[in-house]
Amino acid sequence: MNIVTSKNAAGIISTGRALPVSRVTNFDLEEIMDTSDRWIKARTGIEERRIITNDETNSKLCTRASRIALERANLTPQDIDLLIVATVTPDLTLPSTACLVQAELDACNAAVFDLVAGCTGFLYGLNVAEQYIKNNAAKNILLIGADTLSPVVDWRDRNTAVLFGDGAGAVVLGKVEDGSGVLASKMFSDGTRADLLYIPAGGSVRPATMRTVKERMHYIKMSGPEIFKFAVTVMIDSTLQVLEMCGKTPAELDYLIPHQANERIINLAYKKMGLKPEQVLLNINRYGNMSSACIPIMLDEAVEQGKFQSGDLIAMVSFGAGLTWGAAVLKW
Ligand code: UT7
Repeated sequence: MNIVTSKNAAGIISTGRALPVSRVTNFDLEEIMDTSDRWIKARTGIEERRIITNDETNSKLCTRASRIALERANLTPQDIDLLIVATVTPDLTLPSTACLVQAELDACNAAVFDLVAGCTGFLYGLNVAEQYIKNNAAKNILLIGADTLSPVVDWRDRNTAVLFGDGAGAVVLGKVEDGSGVLASKMFSDGTRADLLYIPAGGSVRPATMRTVKERMHYIKMSGPEIFKFAVTVMIDSTLQVLEMCGKTPAELDYLIPHQANERIINLAYKKMGLKPEQVLLNINRYGNMSSACIPIMLDEAVEQGKFQSGDLIAMVSFGAGLTWGAAVLKW
């Protein structure tokens, strides 16, 4: 689906983030599985990740990140008329995590739903939110990208366990000056490759039984090298497409915020696009792959570090289970 914005531009008004307290380093993982700090750092760029413990949950991280974003936007939870949580790790199968966050915040005037698009969830959510604002169907939207993958990662599988972390990033979206905000955004998917990254059991096809638990079917299964190749190609293609949609070139970009799944994927993609390292924003070393939370958390950190000036051109790009992928261009 192609979106090129002209009137009723939608933009990011404020950002917020929440991370679990517990920090798990590569050295901690060396203690529990056959891996090494050296391998993980060299093959992925990850040094540590945050993991939920005790009473931390996805919805609680969402609520914390949202409170920060709302305060910075000078809005109350009751000012929100649409609340979207992009996640693949809801607190419960039913109801949506968005409902739980709504209750915590008392965002009683909002319509709320979860959006499932793998690690591309935040950019899918941005594309959807933009439509509501463009069509005057919503004024203030709270979009949260949040995932707690640690409970669904198989801690006996070194191919996946070292990669993921937990976190939540929130943005408030609203109407902005014409010519700024979201300039272009595009979502893509290929359901024929669903088996590259999935959780076999726990859905209605294969509900929990003694056998599914015994066979570890409630954990993520991933074909890493296949996703690696796909990721490099689609990151380049989709970024170039959204730039072209708004008449821009990679050289005009101030920043690229890529999905933080593997630093080698990011390096291959940005170099192929002719970008310089200082244009690419990274925090993968500290958090690993937080799925839908990667981009909004990186956005929030960049805002906090005062990186963005008014008028800066920022591209965001992601890929994940589905397969899904997507990109967007913002004028800050
Ligand atoms: O958001 C989307 C989510 N998924 C992704 O983005 C995943 C994309 N793929 C990747 O990032 C990479 O494919 C991985 C990081 C998952 C794997 O890196 P790779 O360079 O593709 O390694 P590989 O799977 O080809 O494995 C190379 C070797 C194997 O050993 P042998 O067979 O050559 O002896 C693995 O068993 O590395 C071994 N290996 C490890 N060694 C130490 C795999 N995981 C580990 C580990 N520690 N954690």
